Amino acid sequence: MDLLERLNLEKVSVLDLGCGVGRNSIPIAQRIQEFGGTVHAVDLLPVAIDKLSAYIGEYNVQGAITVEAADAEYYGIASEAYDYIVVCSCLEHVSNVQAFRAVVERMIRGTQRNGINCVLINTEVKEYDPESGVEQDGLIELNLPTGEALRLLRELYAGWEILIEKHVPQTVHEHKQGKQIEFRGVWVTFAAQRKGAG
Ligand SMILES: C[S@@+](CC[C@H](N)C(=O)[O-])C[C@H]1O[C@@H](n2cnc3c(N)ncnc32)[C@H](O)[C@@H]1O
Repeated sequence: MDLLERLNLEKVSVLDLGCGVGRNSIPIAQRIQEFGGTVHAVDLLPVAIDKLSAYIGEYNVQGAITVEAADAEYYGIASEAYDYIVVCSCLEHVSNVQAFRAVVERMIRGTQRNGINCVLINTEVKEYDPESGVEQDGLIELNLPTGEALRLLRELYAGWEILIEKHVPQTVHEHKQGKQIEFRGVWVTFAAQRKGAG
């Protein structure tokens, strides 16, 4: 939300990849709708898109959000279509590093000059069972070491201005298969702004 304020909000164009039920799309739409801005919200799961569609009515942002069920891994983004692209907790669900690179490269091509990309990703994910004391690797598609994720992002966004680069340990308590587990990992936030012709 803070990064949005760096942009000219007049008719600002936002893409939320892996939008879920709209935790980010809805507040962004609320902020930009008075300026004629729009959010395009994309998620793999039709059920997430259905829930988001209901929230669009509930939060009265009908004119400011469009939705689409699609796989971010193969999602085509028109050249320089967006001022702001956010991908929150989604890139850890693509198949491999090659797919990660491909998605970010499409985001980069799809961003206008002075536009911003914000990538939030869980890394080094572990699942800890407090009952047994056993910790095992998290069952997610792309479980990157934090340093590797940051190295990739710095490389892909070479020539852009890095606005945020931080990583913090994170524990989320989850109920899984009848058990209470701890989902442990590192929460990486990386944001960059496209400058000049870069
Ligand atoms: C942890 S949720 C995050 C949702 C939202 N971005 C947020 O911050 O609240 C992860 C979302 O990514 C979606 N997702 C996972 N893999 C995806 C893919 N390949 N393409 C698009 N969405 C995907 C899931 O369906 C889920 O809604």
